[in-house]
Amino acid sequence: MALRIVMGADNAGFTYKEALRKDLESDDRVASVTDVGVGTAEDDTAYPNVAVAAAEKVARGEADRALLICGTGLGVAIAANKVKGVRAVTAHDIYSVQRSVLSNNAQVLCMGQRVVGLELARVLVKEWLGLEFDPASSSATKVDAICAYEGD
Ligand code: RB5
Repeated sequence: MALRIVMGADNAGFTYKEALRKDLESDDRVASVTDVGVGTAEDDTAYPNVAVAAAEKVARGEADRALLICGTGLGVAIAANKVKGVRAVTAHDIYSVQRSVLSNNAQVLCMGQRVVGLELARVLVKEWLGLEFDPASSSATKVDAICAYEGD
């Protein structure tokens, strides 16, 4: 099923957000792309605001996944993980991106514009779109333990 994706970035991730959004919008596996900002490289809205806005859309079931970019990919992941029900990771290599979905059922991928090259980021996002968590896998009980800690 095609994915509803929400994107967000601070000004340190704005350029990559724009480039990756174009890729998502032209990918058949993507049903919709919602951009929660920032809208310009001059907008200095702090990364937690965009990260939480995007993560809340995932938590409310308005989006299947979120893609968040900041300078390092770290702050947006920390902020998104404060939203109940959200599992966000920072990943800049293909194995981590794969395991984030296959092992951790993470709905949120975070990357750092100051860390990873744009072409690698594009490849990683393309790979990410094709991944699906298997609820019958041995990883499911571990993810369930995370959810149980949150009170679900
Ligand atoms: C810039 O504010 C930078 O600190 C931010 O984009 C991010 O890297 C934080 O984790």
